[in-house]
Amino acid sequence: MLRLTRRAPDSGRPTTQGRTPMRTAMPRRYLMCRPTFFDVVYSINPWMDPGKPVDTALAVAQWEQLREVYTGLGHTVDLIDPVDGLPDMVFAANGATVIDGRALVARFRDAERVAEGPAYRDWLRDNGFPDLKTAELVNEGEGDYLLVGDLLLAGTGFRSDPRSHAEAQEFFGRPVISLTLVDPNYYHLDTALSVLDDRTIAYYPPAFSSGSQAVLRRLFPDAVIATDADARVFGLNATSDGLNVVLPQGAVDLAAQLRDRGFQTVGVELSELLKAGGSVKCCTLELRPAS
Ligand code: ARG
Repeated sequence: MLRLTRRAPDSGRPTTQGRTPMRTAMPRRYLMCRPTFFDVVYSINPWMDPGKPVDTALAVAQWEQLREVYTGLGHTVDLIDPVDGLPDMVFAANGATVIDGRALVARFRDAERVAEGPAYRDWLRDNGFPDLKTAELVNEGEGDYLLVGDLLLAGTGFRSDPRSHAEAQEFFGRPVISLTLVDPNYYHLDTALSVLDDRTIAYYPPAFSSGSQAVLRRLFPDAVIATDADARVFGLNATSDGLNVVLPQGAVDLAAQLRDRGFQTVGVELSELLKAGGSVKCCTLELRPAS
């Protein structure tokens, strides 16, 4: 069941930095893929157990609630047709990275997902993003690439090739910060770090190498730090419009911390999709227009 856990923006307590900053919501354009053919029939991350039953109808219903949350917040949601035989295609974040109206299309590590790349490429080309390129090196899109202001944070360790970071920097002309993931449960960057606004992130330090933790501390000294329990329910797999943070419903400590910082939180139940190792952010590809 969807439960909305919203608080007024002024309910945040003053932080150690002083008063809670004013937060502003910016409308977003998202691409999503209905999980019509969702299932867990192979295992490419520790969450996936093909022996466990999956309720596809429930996955669709939970996903519909996420889509309704977005439209209710005033965001635009485009839909790409799901493809039979591509059960992970619901995880639209992996399809590409789209910044300034230009798309770097994914190249997947695993054979089971390779065909998703061309499906996302064709959709982007036919829907207003002709300026695109398919990555030459393994690059799992917004699963591993997250934009914070002018910086592109890039994950590696499990999926995206570390050399894909230079390729992305060259394509977008934005500084890329390489971050190494070390815990297989948090195999994509968006499972361990979420972008809340142009300067603010939340993350789970143990998912990162010690050098990457030091980089994150240096760049984001005021970051929200997630607990083990928040991370385990995929609490960091969240989206934000600068004010409203949509996150897995079980991440209660993280939601409380975010409200203390002046964000509003919307908890969504996506338990079926978690059986494939995905949640809110994984289902959501942001289509950033040319500025
Ligand atoms: N089963 C998918 C995989 O392992 C889940 C992808 C989750 N997506 C994400 N953006 N983290 O590839």
